[in-house]
Amino acid sequence: MKTRITELLGIQHPVIQGGMHYVGFAEMAAAVSNAGGLGIITALTMPTPNDLAKEIARCHKMTDKPFGVNLTFLPGFEAPPYDEYIEAIIAGGVKIVETAGRSPEAYVPILKENGIKIIHKCTSVRHSLKAERLGCDAVSVDGFECGGHPGEDDIPGLILLPRAAEELTIPFVASGGFGNAEGLVAALALGADGINMGTRFIATVEAPVHQNVKQALVDADELQTRLIMRPLRNTERVLKNAAVEQIIAIEKEKGADLQIGDIAHLVGGVYPKILQEGKMDIGAWSTGMVAGLIHDIPTCKELVERIVNGAEEIINERLASLVAA
Ligand SMILES: Cc1cc2nc3c(=O)[nH]c(=O)nc-3n(C[C@H](O)[C@H](O)[C@H](O)COP(=O)(O)O)c2cc1C
Repeated sequence: MKTRITELLGIQHPVIQGGMHYVGFAEMAAAVSNAGGLGIITALTMPTPNDLAKEIARCHKMTDKPFGVNLTFLPGFEAPPYDEYIEAIIAGGVKIVETAGRSPEAYVPILKENGIKIIHKCTSVRHSLKAERLGCDAVSVDGFECGGHPGEDDIPGLILLPRAAEELTIPFVASGGFGNAEGLVAALALGADGINMGTRFIATVEAPVHQNVKQALVDADELQTRLIMRPLRNTERVLKNAAVEQIIAIEKEKGADLQIGDIAHLVGGVYPKILQEGKMDIGAWSTGMVAGLIHDIPTCKELVERIVNGAEEIINERLASLVAA
């Protein structure tokens, strides 16, 4: 399948693995890129820019295909040394960066000067248009269904994607809620040039996370995610567990007076314990509603091929036969 995204990024299939904290290590990125999609290393999971440089070098050893690096601009008091992370990306010869969190404005010039393609991930048409104006090469449009931070507008993909298609000139991929062939066909029908997946890629053989995490996604249905941190305007979609129930109780009790300090012990620094050690109830971790569509743990190659081949079959057979009829 050839789309503006496969052409832009030099990849075989229009399937991207979005940056994921404590999931986007070289093993994950290389497996997706080797499967013909675009794998992405998550910069800030690496404690220092030097660690990112090492992770990029490791990934180059595992794949000769293009892969990207995610740069998430976090809300917070002390900003990570973004300039140095970018130096590691440039020195490592990475040619694709996924930006997210807030406007990449300050870093667009340096990335462009170094021939790096920028995919900005955002959750609204207005932010997509801003990214286009700034010179980003593509946008990842994340609907309300998504795992992680869906923003505060609550517009699901069925409306957000065709709205993005109405307004954008640059290519865009549909993100949030994608995990199967039907989703890819729908994304293309809604005007997107491909899909970006987070949650679905965690339940794969190569994802470098604890087996409990993969199994939790297989076990969960579409009713098992919750939104937290809405009063802080930092809404996150997470998998329901004991910690999330506690967070929701605290949020209810504090109402509009909620401070991050009230829930910090349940949301801060918990990722390695959950994703690597498999302690599933100690904190909140991002998960999308697409968990309801995850029923197995295939290899990345099996998954990507299943999605792309399945999409081609739906288009050529089911949809074509409806039109013919
Ligand atoms: C466990 C997890 C961690 C994530 N961490 C990040 C991150 O650090 N930076 C980022 O830009 N997006 C992050 N995301 C969002 C994904 O890149 C992607 O946009 C989202 O998962 C798409 O929705 P889906 O889960 O329905 O596929 C994360 C998602 C998950 C599930």
